[in-house]
Amino acid sequence: MCGIIGYIGKKHNVTDVLITGLKALEYRGYDSVGIALWNEDMFKLIKSAGKISHLEDKIRKEGNMTSQMGIGHTRWATHGEPNDTNSHPHRVGNVTLVHNGIIENYQELKEELIKKGYHFASDTDTEVIASLLDDIKKNKENYLEILQELTTRLRGSYALGIVFDQDKNHLYALRKDSPLILGIGDKENFIASDIPAIIPYTKQYILLEAGEIARLSEDGIDLFDTSLKPISKKIQQVNWTMEQAEKGGYSHFMLKEIMEEERVLKDTILPFVKDKETLLSKMPDLKKYDQVHIVACGSAMHAGLVGKYLIETYANIPVTVEVASEYRYKKNFYTDHTLVILVSQSGETADTIAALRLAKESKVDTLAIVNVYGSTIARESDQVLYIYAGPEIAVATTKAYTLQVAMLSLVALTMAINHKQMKEEEITMLLEAFQNLPEILGGLLEKQESYFEIAKMLDGSEDVFFLGRGVDYALAMEGSLKLKEISYIHSEAYQAGELKHGTISLIEKNTPVIALVTDEKLAEKTISNIKEVKARGAKVILVTLESLDRDYDFCDQKIVLPVVPPFVQPILVMPPLQLLSFEVARRRGCDIDKPRNLAKSVTVE
Ligand code: M6R
Repeated sequence: MCGIIGYIGKKHNVTDVLITGLKALEYRGYDSVGIALWNEDMFKLIKSAGKISHLEDKIRKEGNMTSQMGIGHTRWATHGEPNDTNSHPHRVGNVTLVHNGIIENYQELKEELIKKGYHFASDTDTEVIASLLDDIKKNKENYLEILQELTTRLRGSYALGIVFDQDKNHLYALRKDSPLILGIGDKENFIASDIPAIIPYTKQYILLEAGEIARLSEDGIDLFDTSLKPISKKIQQVNWTMEQAEKGGYSHFMLKEIMEEERVLKDTILPFVKDKETLLSKMPDLKKYDQVHIVACGSAMHAGLVGKYLIETYANIPVTVEVASEYRYKKNFYTDHTLVILVSQSGETADTIAALRLAKESKVDTLAIVNVYGSTIARESDQVLYIYAGPEIAVATTKAYTLQVAMLSLVALTMAINHKQMKEEEITMLLEAFQNLPEILGGLLEKQESYFEIAKMLDGSEDVFFLGRGVDYALAMEGSLKLKEISYIHSEAYQAGELKHGTISLIEKNTPVIALVTDEKLAEKTISNIKEVKARGAKVILVTLESLDRDYDFCDQKIVLPVVPPFVQPILVMPPLQLLSFEVARRRGCDIDKPRNLAKSVTVE
């Protein structure tokens, strides 16, 4: 977690660049924040627990500080509580640095440094890195060699921005397993954890790889490999506009991102679905695989559950879906015909990266479904399918989830074709259904006010249940996560038939139950289960299809979805529920884009 920004140059005010970058990176963590600025003859630290506005107040009190180099950090605490001392940058001797990641051997290094006389003010692993650098510096003068030695001593993940008082013309950066990019300007250069932090200043950047060291000056960037041999790297071009990275007139990023779903669905799926030949030429060849593991975390795992349903139902291939943090430590069964699919918006989720590496060590083929171009999962997987969601800033994923489901649907269709499980007429009909889907989704989003109206039913509720069978259960899990993570209402998703095996005891008068009935084959069964909760006093919000819409006496509110072929139906279910959750959280006054305790990209185990 955590966000890093660094700047060297005279074209812009350093403090402004750092604050702008930190605001763009706040999604990576927002419990404390800090900057270090070159000021006269040393780096001056200004740090604060809480939001960036607190830091801005402190900076204002310091008065005008002219500088031509600085580093900044927004934190998501891993070692020690979020307070001023634990926040970054950390400074020991003449070394000042910011860090994203976790140093696994920090305790052992700390003990060694304590024996050498070092004292530690914070609880962080980062202060240990600063002390270690200070210690290495005692026997070496060349900064590159100092950093090279540092990399041999650290175990774990890190992206580091480092400055030395005696070398005020250079900013150093290095990384392993945590992301870091280098922004290239004209007479100014940047380091950042992610692209939105540099977009206002430059669209050109370099991806720093594990083990590489970057030395930035006002005039350029020198890159070195692990043996300190100078290297040159491809310059990448950002294809996002600043406007895409901002709220675009919406009150919240989450709302903006939900309302973008029609466009991003078009961008992502239309290039694949012109006809069967186009689909097969753009998709990987999946003929070889007779077993699939889908591995992901959170909402991406929920998207995987929909993928499982589709691949098993239509391609007739068994699929397991596992949470990455479990998969990486359990026994997995592979054959030469196993495909491991990793699903991740950020492409930087630590557990999913570990699962990917595990599969690769076992020589199993891997396919990633990722949003962020050039992210670790995208780079390390054998094959990548990008979803084109653009930047997703709200911590709760919405458009990326919808696109993950859509991309997994295309994978399922490809597998069904590759394994000769589908007739030509059905393939043609489904490709047409995919083509029409973005517009139908757009029509659903236009009804946002009606979902906002239904959201009022959850005023004052502290427990909500989501029910569904089959694929509706997979969708219920995501609906429930969306609601609880942003509104802080306790919510559980249950298989409709399972509730009566215990949990139904929690249903009392006016407990809201959101029941999903979008699979015609299972509708009757689920409706019986809904009647069971209604009989115990539940308030029911039914999510169903136009074809199943009746004047039911058991439902208090309804969200009715247009009927599309069952294969693509799941793609339409979540957007209304995302809008419903958004409004529930808004009515409760929650910090929707940055829910408490969460971070957008979980880059620690
Ligand atoms: O970047 P990833 O897709 O790998 O992230 C996975 C989860 O951390 C993420 O989906 C998380 O569950 C979100 N808070 C859901 O809104």
